[in-house]
Amino acid sequence: AFSNTVAKAAGKLYFGTATDNSELTNTAYTAILDNNAYFGQLSPANSMKWDATEPEQGVFTFTGGDQIVALAKSNGQLMRGHNCVWYNQLPSWVSNGGFTEAELTTIIQNHCGTLVGHYKGEMYSWDVINEPFNDDGTWRSDVFYNTLGTSFVQIALEAASQADPSAKLYINDYNIEYAGPKATAMMNLVSSLKASGVPINGVGLQCHFIVGEVPTDLQTIMEQFTALDVEVAVTELDIRMTLPATDALLEQQKTDYQTVISACNAVEGCVGVTIWDFTDEYSWVPSTFSGQGDACPWDSNLVKKPAYDGIIIGF
Ligand code: XIL
Repeated sequence: AFSNTVAKAAGKLYFGTATDNSELTNTAYTAILDNNAYFGQLSPANSMKWDATEPEQGVFTFTGGDQIVALAKSNGQLMRGHNCVWYNQLPSWVSNGGFTEAELTTIIQNHCGTLVGHYKGEMYSWDVINEPFNDDGTWRSDVFYNTLGTSFVQIALEAASQADPSAKLYINDYNIEYAGPKATAMMNLVSSLKASGVPINGVGLQCHFIVGEVPTDLQTIMEQFTALDVEVAVTELDIRMTLPATDALLEQQKTDYQTVISACNAVEGCVGVTIWDFTDEYSWVPSTFSGQGDACPWDSNLVKKPAYDGIIIGF
């Protein structure tokens, strides 16, 4: 069975994956990536981020992003744009700050408007805001919040909406997949944006999980978000383990993938699931979480792991 085929049969819009431009020369990899029975949606892992798209003020480069969009188009796959405003992977001209409120407002409007506008009509959705909160539910201290307070969210969403009225506009974060101060902060933000008429269509649950530690209230949290009149999506799923892998860990990982897919499947407003690349070969996990890895459904030789069967069963 094929992951996107079963997702669509279950009434979801897509099962998708992140990919990165440097990976596209690996023809064994692209043979799987390009198969829209496996993947009905692509996310660019890096090439639409601020440092890649506006490295100098007012100088836009879309080469990398364009390559992913062209690939998705030729494969008949949807696109999620990722991302417009994030504290990380910023060019120094932004992260150095020193702006007045008016200056940074214009910078955000120009960045989001130009980026989203460049891909007008090509994107199913955009992560307009990425990772705005700390784990305790307070706002992250970054150039955006420190200069503009919470208004940067509205500024970015309105600029994105003007640039592409048809794209679903998301706020995306991690550690909002279970009850706690961060999920509460995100729900409060969505409610207040909705109450003020700010365009917000979705909440992205990243879902960078650990084997054996998938939140048991994931479905409940999804239902709480969709009750606020937004859709949800699993945007960056991977489930890592402390290496080396064992048969028991790989079996637990299969169960864990199934649990996440089943949660999305059970919630009408959960539109789809994206894994944060499909092979352990290109996963971001080992370089970020020391001693951990093997988080993807395909191993580093592009062979499917038990986790893949968990995905199929979950839909
Ligand atoms: C990661 C990419 O996969 C890596 O290649 C890069 O070095 C760092 O960023 N949350 C996000 C993604 O929203 O943009 C991150 O992607 C993973 C965590």
